[in-house]
Amino acid sequence: MTGDTRTEAVMPHPAWLPEAAFAPLGRRRVAVVGTGPVVGTVRAEVAAAVARHGGRLVDAVDASHGGNAAHETGGQGGADDVDLLLTVTPGGGDGAGVGTSAAEGFEVRRVGSTLVVDADGGPGLLYGLHHVVRHGEAAFAPEAPSATLLGRHEPAEPIRMLDHWDNLTVHPVMGQVERGYAGGSIFWSEGRLVEDLSRAREYARLLGSIGVNRVAVNNVNVGGVAARLLTDGLADVARLAEVFRPHGIRTHISVSFAAPMTVGGLPTSDPLDPDVERWWAQAAERVWARIPDFGGFVVKADSEGQPGPFAYGRDHADGANMLARAAAPHGGTIFWRAFVYNHKQDWRDRSTDRARAAYDHFAPLDGRFDENVVLQVKYGPLDFQTREAISPVIGAMPQTRVAVELQVTQEYTGQQKHVCYLGTQWSEILGFGLWGPGGPTLADVAAGRGPGERAAGLVAVSNVGDDEFWTGHPLAQANLYAFGRLAWDPTLDAPAVLDEWARLTFGEDPTVVATLHDLMDGSWRTYEDYTAPLGVGFMVSPARMHYGPDVDGYEYSPWGTYHFADRDGVGVDRTRATGTGYTGQYPEPWRDVYESLETCPDELTLFFHHVPYTHVLHDGVTVIQHIYDTHFRGLERVEEMVRTWEKLEGHVDGRVFTRVAERLAEQLRSAREWRDQINTYFWRKSGIPDAHGRTIY
Ligand code: GCU
Repeated sequence: MTGDTRTEAVMPHPAWLPEAAFAPLGRRRVAVVGTGPVVGTVRAEVAAAVARHGGRLVDAVDASHGGNAAHETGGQGGADDVDLLLTVTPGGGDGAGVGTSAAEGFEVRRVGSTLVVDADGGPGLLYGLHHVVRHGEAAFAPEAPSATLLGRHEPAEPIRMLDHWDNLTVHPVMGQVERGYAGGSIFWSEGRLVEDLSRAREYARLLGSIGVNRVAVNNVNVGGVAARLLTDGLADVARLAEVFRPHGIRTHISVSFAAPMTVGGLPTSDPLDPDVERWWAQAAERVWARIPDFGGFVVKADSEGQPGPFAYGRDHADGANMLARAAAPHGGTIFWRAFVYNHKQDWRDRSTDRARAAYDHFAPLDGRFDENVVLQVKYGPLDFQTREAISPVIGAMPQTRVAVELQVTQEYTGQQKHVCYLGTQWSEILGFGLWGPGGPTLADVAAGRGPGERAAGLVAVSNVGDDEFWTGHPLAQANLYAFGRLAWDPTLDAPAVLDEWARLTFGEDPTVVATLHDLMDGSWRTYEDYTAPLGVGFMVSPARMHYGPDVDGYEYSPWGTYHFADRDGVGVDRTRATGTGYTGQYPEPWRDVYESLETCPDELTLFFHHVPYTHVLHDGVTVIQHIYDTHFRGLERVEEMVRTWEKLEGHVDGRVFTRVAERLAEQLRSAREWRDQINTYFWRKSGIPDAHGRTIY
C-alpha cells in the first residue's frame, strides 16, 4: 500500500447506470446494426451487459434489410430470434457530435416477438438503448407494452448542455470548481488535463445516457491559465472531445473576450477592430482544424469583472456577432451569456434594480444577433435563487435564439449538503406560460416553438466533481439525471422522473423507491420553507460562500441583492406605480398580475412588493406569521427526512447510507440555524410575536 490516493481511489459510484439496470437487456439476444463511434458505444454497452447477464450479442443481421425486413423474412444467422434489434436507419448518419436533432430521434416498435429500435443516427441509437434500459423488464413484455415504450421519440430541446465551472488550477477563493460541492475537477489538475481520463469517460457515459449533447469544460470566469486552451492547451481540449464524441456530445470551451490582448498580444479587443476580428478567425481556424466537431465558445462578457465590448463603447450584439462570424464557417455556436449587471452598485441608490439589468441590456438588441449566436439567459433575473420570478428576457426576444440556463450545482439550494430535488423547481419553471397560462411556455420558447421559432435549448451548470459519488451528496445525482430527462422532454412529470432515477440507481425494491420519493419529492419546497421567505431571495452568508443564513449579509453590499427589511415591513418594490418599474418588463398578463398585491402569487410577494409585516396573504395568513410558520414547518420536515432515511439502513449500499446520513445531520443543523436566525431577525425587527407562542430567540 502506498500513500498515493490516486492508485487507491475507490471506484466511482455507478449512479443511475449500475450493472443491475442492464440485467433485463443483458439476458436477451440483441443485435446492433450501424457504424460510427456512437454506434460503437451502443455495441460496447450491449456486449458488456450480455456478457454479465447471460444474453448474446448477435452480429449477423443484414444491415441492408433494416430490422423490419430481417425479421419478416426470417433473416439468416439467428436474426429472426433476436429479442432486441438496435438499428440505425440505412443512410442515417452517425451524427456523432453533430448535435442536431436530425440524428437524435428514434422509433420503437414491435415486430413479432422482437423489439426494434430504429434510430435516425448514432446518438438516436444511444438514446433508444437507454430508453429500453429505463423500461427494464417491462420493455420485453409484449403482452402489456408500457404507454411510453413504443412510438417515435425525439428531444424537445435541441441543445441540452452542461457548463462546467471548472478552473484549470485551484483558485485561491473559489477553489478548483467554482460553486462546486463535490471535490476537484474531473478534467483539470494543475493547469493541465488529468492523466487518467477514466472518470471523464464514465461521466460522458452518464451524460449520453440521459441525452445531454453538449458540454463546456471550463469556467465562464476565464482565469489566466484557461486562456491557454485556445493555444497550447488545445491538445487537452481535443482529448476531451475524443472522450465525449462517442457519447454524442460536442465539446465547448469558455473564452475571455480579452483573449486577443491577453493571448494574442494585440493592443485592443474591440470587436469592430479588423485585427481583432482576424485574430478570432485564426483562433477558430486552429480550434476547428484540431477538433472538427468542436461545438463553440461560451462567453461571459461585461459581467462580474469579466472583459467585454462595453469597454470599447460597443454593445453585446457587436461582441457576439464578431465571434459568431469566426465560428460560422466551421458550424460553431457562440453561447453568449445575458448575466450582465452592475455589481458595484451603491446600496443607498434605491432606483437601480439588478433584476432589470439583463432586459435593459439585451431586449433592445433583439433581431441583431447572428443565427449561430445563442443568448444564454438564467431562468430568473437575479441569480439561481430558490424562488424568483421568471426572467422577462426569455419572452422578449423572438428574433433571437434563447437558451435557458439552470443551476444543477446547488449554490443557493443547499450546496449538496442539503437534499433538494430540483426537478420540481425546473418543471415549474419550464412549464411557465410566458404570455399567461395555456400559451407558449418557457420550454417552448427555448425549443423554438415560441413566437419567433428560434430554436436553442437548455443549459445548466454541472454539479459533479471527483467525489466518490460524483455529486458529494449521493441524492444530488437525481438533479443531474432530472436535468437531462427534462431537457429531453420538459413535460415529463418531475416526481415520476425522480422515481425513474431511484429505480435505476437503487433497484426495483418498491419500499426503497417509495421511501426515497417521500424523502425527496417535496424537498425543494422544504428548502424554500426554512430559507429566505416569499421570493425575497439571498439572505445567504457571503463569508461562507453562500452557505447558511446571514440575513443582512448582502444588505449593504454592492451586489444589488437587498430585502429592505425595517421595523414595519420587508420586500423589494418592483412595481411601476411606486417601485423600480421592473414589472413593466413583462408582457400581459404578468405585468399587471405582478404589479398588484391583489393578484401577485403569494410565493413572489416579497420579490415584487415591499409590504408591512401585517399584510395578509391570499392564504389568509400575515407575512410575519407566514415567515414563522414556514420556518417551523421546514425544520420539522427535515426532522422527518432524517427519520425517513433511517428506514433505509440495510436496504441501500452501506457507503451511500452513511454519506447521506452524515449530510442529513448537517442539513438538520443548518436548517435549525436558518429557522432560528430568520425567525429571530423578523421577531426583533417587527416586535410581532408568533401567534402560536413557539420559541423564538
Ligand atoms: C453566480 C455565482 C458566480 C458565477 C456567476 C455566473 O453569481 O455566484 O460564482 O460566476 O453566478 O453565473 O457567472
